Amino acid sequence: MKGKIVVTGGAGYIGSHTTVELQNAGYEVVIVDNLSNSNAGVIDGIEKISGIRPAFEKVDCTDKEALTGVFNKYPGIKGIIHFAASKAVGESVHKPLLYYKNNIVSLLNLLELMPENKVEGIVFSSSCTVYGQPEILPVDEMAPIQPALSPYGNTKQIDEEIIRDAIYAKAPYKSIILRYFNPIGAHPTAEIGELPNGVPQNLIPYLTQTAIGIRKELSVYGDDYNTPDGSCIRDYINVVDLAKAHVVAVNRIVENKSESKLEYFNLGTGTGVSVLELINAFEKSTGVKVPHKIVGRREGDIEQIWANPCYANTVLGWTAAESIEDTLKSAWSWQLKLREKGIM
Ligand code: UD1
Repeated sequence: MKGKIVVTGGAGYIGSHTTVELQNAGYEVVIVDNLSNSNAGVIDGIEKISGIRPAFEKVDCTDKEALTGVFNKYPGIKGIIHFAASKAVGESVHKPLLYYKNNIVSLLNLLELMPENKVEGIVFSSSCTVYGQPEILPVDEMAPIQPALSPYGNTKQIDEEIIRDAIYAKAPYKSIILRYFNPIGAHPTAEIGELPNGVPQNLIPYLTQTAIGIRKELSVYGDDYNTPDGSCIRDYINVVDLAKAHVVAVNRIVENKSESKLEYFNLGTGTGVSVLELINAFEKSTGVKVPHKIVGRREGDIEQIWANPCYANTVLGWTAAESIEDTLKSAWSWQLKLREKGIM
């Protein structure tokens, strides 16, 4: 065993894939999740894939007393990966206080508990949203942070600042901030994947639900952007590739390989793909048609963004390896599995 790692939000989409990869790499995982946007069945999926059932504590990270109980129950936690957060951009505009409370109080509680429990470091789940619409593409880690367009985006910026300030004030731990581009796809076994509550807001779950007939048609938000085909461009990264980057980050912390106490990495493929190109790639790789129509722009959308992943490639020795075709196939297999299980 390489050591105990707390994964907050470990029953969620990225957290569950990361738990699998951590266990495959020999870490012992303690999942802390309030199941607000996931369910305990995910733990079964993780066990099926990796052959190991992670410890699971149904705890809300805003509840400091309960969180203290977790650290007491599992002594010797070496590191934390903090995924647990509310993440719907639109909802955050209507429920800002919920977002500030969930996303900021959770982090404060963890940071306060780390020194007394001698936790060596925290990997923080951030987003390319901190760059706003960058002037220079692809965007690297030196690009300026721009004012957030939503309370959700603002919580990611504030959380990054809290970590920065705590480390500047000589907190006895390290941190690696990972800025994700657009994670998509599912585990190749189709045992775990993305399971949004209600009507999906993100592109891929809406697309696969349309392809299987749950939704009538996919709305493409705008074809009048200043891009080659007029639709928005994003950097879609395979969720398993993304999960593996977390293992590298945790290794870096526990093996003392970090170059400084605080590091930032962009996690993307380096390739921008438009919404229309993505629909086309899905249809080609799965042979399934996606009924879609062009509608108006979605408020708050960035026109185009994709990563310069060179820093992560060279310093972490990590590269996004999966093709977009295989990633889209995995998203489709997951949707089919949900149908097979009668979930949707
Ligand atoms: C957003 C956030 C990101 C957050 C992520 C997770 C921003 C800039 N980005 O990513 O930080 O981590 O959500 O919730 O705030 N689209 C359609 N039709 C749909 C849905 C989406 O055309 O039904 C388009 C969007 O206009 C966009 C692309 O698909 O161009 C991707 O959208 P989405 O999956 O929602 O992710 P982001 O908005 O990029």
